[in-house]
Amino acid sequence: MTQIKPPAQVKPLDRAFALEAVRVTEAAAIAAYAEIGRGNEHQADHAAVEAMRAAFNRLPIDGTVVIGEGERDEAPMLFIGEKVGQGGLSVDIALDPLEGTTLTAKAMANALAVMAMAEPGTMLNAPDTYMDKIAIGPGHKEGVVDLDAEPGDNINAIARAKGIKPGEVTALVMDRPRHEALIAKIRKAGAKVKLITDGDVAGVIETTDAATGVDIYMGLGGAPEGVLAAAALRCIGGQMQGRLVFRNDDERARAAKWGVTDLTRKYSLHDLVAGDVVFSATGVTDGSMLRGVHRDGDFITTESVVMRSATGTVRWIRARHRRVQAS
Ligand code: FBP
Repeated sequence: MTQIKPPAQVKPLDRAFALEAVRVTEAAAIAAYAEIGRGNEHQADHAAVEAMRAAFNRLPIDGTVVIGEGERDEAPMLFIGEKVGQGGLSVDIALDPLEGTTLTAKAMANALAVMAMAEPGTMLNAPDTYMDKIAIGPGHKEGVVDLDAEPGDNINAIARAKGIKPGEVTALVMDRPRHEALIAKIRKAGAKVKLITDGDVAGVIETTDAATGVDIYMGLGGAPEGVLAAAALRCIGGQMQGRLVFRNDDERARAAKWGVTDLTRKYSLHDLVAGDVVFSATGVTDGSMLRGVHRDGDFITTESVVMRSATGTVRWIRARHRRVQAS
């Protein structure tokens, strides 16, 4: 039998953790499933947070939450700085137990349970501010698009890189009033705009999958979501740049508190996530990347994707879980 030899830098523990990571996002997604369509964002988020925290605490890791539900005084669980796990390998954790609380509450597409685990000190400790982001999929020369270039120039650049006309380019943008000018400029360049109401982790990842038809992601979304999306792109490939955007002095102070010294810095993909990283996502509602949680008789089915930057391996995992009957 042919043995596939792992690259020399692969640590056996990391490999096992890739599969352990899936259990964590599966648990959060299953918990959120009960709240789909109930119109209660807070309850949906709370269910996912509790389940994800319990799942983390079953893992043999010495984990520190660096991107979580908020600061200690505003988040009772999975707050920034919280220690999780039973002890073992030291890892930093970025998480979003429910990426798309509104999508879940309204039973809309693309809600995910997401997390990334990385070597300590290698992920940007992004404060809960906005991040201006630009992302494209893999296979292009570094620097094809640039956060500081005009939107029209970026559309032309990605069109040239893909050997298509600007009119064939689709840019994905969050549907927000703050993006009115950006959307107008993209359309003026001839490109199509796909608008999403929420969930820009999935939105950024769409650029890496030709089947989605999305060529480029542009605009402002959450900074924590930016780091999570960067973790995925570090594994699948692709390019991304981001810059923190602050609305007030309180947000600037938060950034400083988490060690951000240059408030105007343009982060590259490798600045956002510098080290070896494992990324896992489980669909909550059906979406572009993953099927959501479904009931199937006595079982619950989930679909997840787990990736590792060390090898670039991407695994799609469909699981069937026995439903636990309430006693
Ligand atoms: P939540 O899951 O916290 O509701 O975040 C959803 C989301 O759409 C993110 O995907 C995105 O980065 C962010 O909110 C955008 O923020 P805003 O709604 O303020 O534009």
